[in-house]
Amino acid sequence: MEEDMLRGEMGPAVARAMELLVALGEVFEAERLVPIEGAHISGVSYKNLDEAGLEFLEDLAELGAKTRVRATLNPAGMDLDLWREMGIPHGFAERQLRVIQAFQRMGVEATCTCTPYLIGNIPRRGSQIAWAESSAVAFSNSVLGARTNRESGPSALASSITGRTPLYGYRIEENRRPGAVVEVEAELKGHLDYSALGYHIGRILGSSVPYIRGIPRADADSLKSLAAASATSGGIALFHVEGVTPEADRFGEEDLKGLERITVEDGDLEEAVSSLSRGVEDPVLCLGCPHCSLEEIWEAARLLRGRRLRGRLWIFTSRGVYREAERRGYIHTILEAGGRVFRDTCMVVAPLKEMGWREIVTDSCKAAHYASSMGLKTRLEPLKGMVEEASS
Ligand code: F3S
Repeated sequence: MEEDMLRGEMGPAVARAMELLVALGEVFEAERLVPIEGAHISGVSYKNLDEAGLEFLEDLAELGAKTRVRATLNPAGMDLDLWREMGIPHGFAERQLRVIQAFQRMGVEATCTCTPYLIGNIPRRGSQIAWAESSAVAFSNSVLGARTNRESGPSALASSITGRTPLYGYRIEENRRPGAVVEVEAELKGHLDYSALGYHIGRILGSSVPYIRGIPRADADSLKSLAAASATSGGIALFHVEGVTPEADRFGEEDLKGLERITVEDGDLEEAVSSLSRGVEDPVLCLGCPHCSLEEIWEAARLLRGRRLRGRLWIFTSRGVYREAERRGYIHTILEAGGRVFRDTCMVVAPLKEMGWREIVTDSCKAAHYASSMGLKTRLEPLKGMVEEASS
């Protein structure tokens, strides 16, 4: 079947996708291809794709490419309905909509979120999937126990079209063993602390597999922040948290013997935060990297109730979470305080410079890292601090 695909017997689009996967498999010396149960595709914002990327996708759709497994999409460069309110230039919007249409013609669900696991794309433990989007990769491997490498947009798309992926990396049991032990002595008080922890660990350990101790409890949102930041400063695609994540209890003292050990103290988190914080004068306050869960939107609404914002607060989430937050009245509360809630995009993949943004304040090390690499001034602040400072 795979050879038929490669020979073009299942159409030119399948052959093209298979060629890419075979080449990838050769680079990583994979011994074979394995079936996947789902895909999550990045490389959706026109800001990153540009004209060449748009043409590539439209050509593939024209060739008749169709997904064989459930495939969801990462954020685009704008809210697909409210782009005018975001200040998105018309030409950008027109091309972004063509990108989405090309994906839809191939059967990809236009979810436009980096948290597909919050809106029903929840892979089974142990299942092989092909996910791009580094934060979602780290979350699905570590917290959900699925198996994926850090796919690129094209390789995740090729896997969705063929239903196959090369067997190497984190797909193999042996490569999921811890490579370092992290003892957390710092006090973790909120999402920003988890984000700073991930940022610090990633900087030190690169793409190792940390076995983290000292976090007896952590909710899904905290682990989402940890996953996103550790995948940003390093290349972490999998971590284990003792007593918390599903594969951690497979490893005992014997397995951890002789591994590199690091200890994380309060000062390390403070240093991670200050490395991404500068003085800002008129920033946009941004929440939702990774995209906000319902609980996070509830928390923002709770803090904003009865207040009036002086500056701009933009919150980013998925359509699925937005719908429920709207039904429960959270969106109304945020709008009433002067905040905005956008779907389908975020403070990194939107064309911020063209929108006139110069400074942001956020509670996400990932967002601050990428925004500062794009030349914006950034400051990190927990949500509560942000709201108090910006409202009366
Ligand atoms: Fe998601 Fe954008 Fe952050 S894609 S993880 S909100 S940079």
